[in-house]
Amino acid sequence: MKAISVLPGKPDSIHLADLPEPDVDDVPGGRGVLVEVLRVGVDGTDKEINDAEYGAAPDGYNFLVIGHESLGRVLEVGPNVRDLAPGDYVVATVRRPGSSIYDLIGAYDMTIDDTYYERGISLLHGYLTERYVDDLEYIVKVPAALKEVGVLLEPISVVEKGIEQAYEIQRRLGIWRPARAAVVGAGSLGLLATLILRLRGLEVTTLALADPPTLNSELVEALDARYESARKLSLLQAAERYGPFDIILEATGASNVVFEGMEALGPNGVLVLTGISSGDRTVEVPGDRIMLSFVLGNKVAVGTVNANRRYFERGVQDMALAEAQCPGWLERLLTHPVCELENYAEMMRLLIEEKSAIKVFVEVGEL
Ligand code: BGC
Ligand code: ZN
Repeated sequence: MKAISVLPGKPDSIHLADLPEPDVDDVPGGRGVLVEVLRVGVDGTDKEINDAEYGAAPDGYNFLVIGHESLGRVLEVGPNVRDLAPGDYVVATVRRPGSSIYDLIGAYDMTIDDTYYERGISLLHGYLTERYVDDLEYIVKVPAALKEVGVLLEPISVVEKGIEQAYEIQRRLGIWRPARAAVVGAGSLGLLATLILRLRGLEVTTLALADPPTLNSELVEALDARYESARKLSLLQAAERYGPFDIILEATGASNVVFEGMEALGPNGVLVLTGISSGDRTVEVPGDRIMLSFVLGNKVAVGTVNANRRYFERGVQDMALAEAQCPGWLERLLTHPVCELENYAEMMRLLIEEKSAIKVFVEVGEL
């Protein structure tokens, strides 16, 4: 089978590799699900892997098949698979359990192992290929009515986890009725965070560098959220004008936002950090002011990565709610399709150069 691969550690090594056919019996216990890949989205992580800043090849291979945002259709299931059948649309989770106590209870997104296993990212092949097989535990069914937007489920799951972490943490308050949120960043994660917070009934202000109107700002406004250019209005100013913010969700990967967010957060608020910065930039911050407002405000900051099965399932529910409340909105995120695996160079070009792209994805098979 064809598979878009990189040589981890070697910059710009993206190429088409040859992968052996998977078999439903590759998974023990009759729990295998063989899936035909239909669409795979790409993001900053794929770019970083091709830049050799990230990523590791599986044991026995010198290459890594990339792609962790998948949508597929079941081809065959093992004898002990009950809830999935050939023809079902499915999305696979990304991380696989290690050995920490969190991994053992299904919370592999919370692993404390030093080495972690993520399909398409670290030590396991990803989905930018023709077919894959996995254990039914990691395969989440998506209703056929959502097949057009199903490829967005993995990034949605990451946002679901971040927001649910905020709600879980805020149980400390006995009562928490968040009313206002700020989202920093209006790329695919920022837009999806704006959506999920709006679905929870919050008033949302989304800040990003670009001056409106852009497709991103229009998508924010289509959710009855507010878009502000961060060049014209800082997060602190936004908090004065539209706050106090009960939640600030950072989706940029720019570390200065962390500290501004700590100060801009309202009392009893929670700052959720989702951006991954692989650089080693230093920033100067007003430490005393931040500390004072953080302590006197009983504030919390939390980092969040990855998502387990539960957040994918929640994501499916929210995709259905989104289609009911804002029909067609999710599909507008799928801005840049790339036809077939052979066009991996075009995929990378769009990912790196196309500033107007919200989601670049490869059409591997017919929906
Ligand atoms: C993926 C996550 C993953 C993270 C760190 C992100 O791009 O969406 O599933 O845990 O990268 O590797
Ligand atoms: Zn990702």
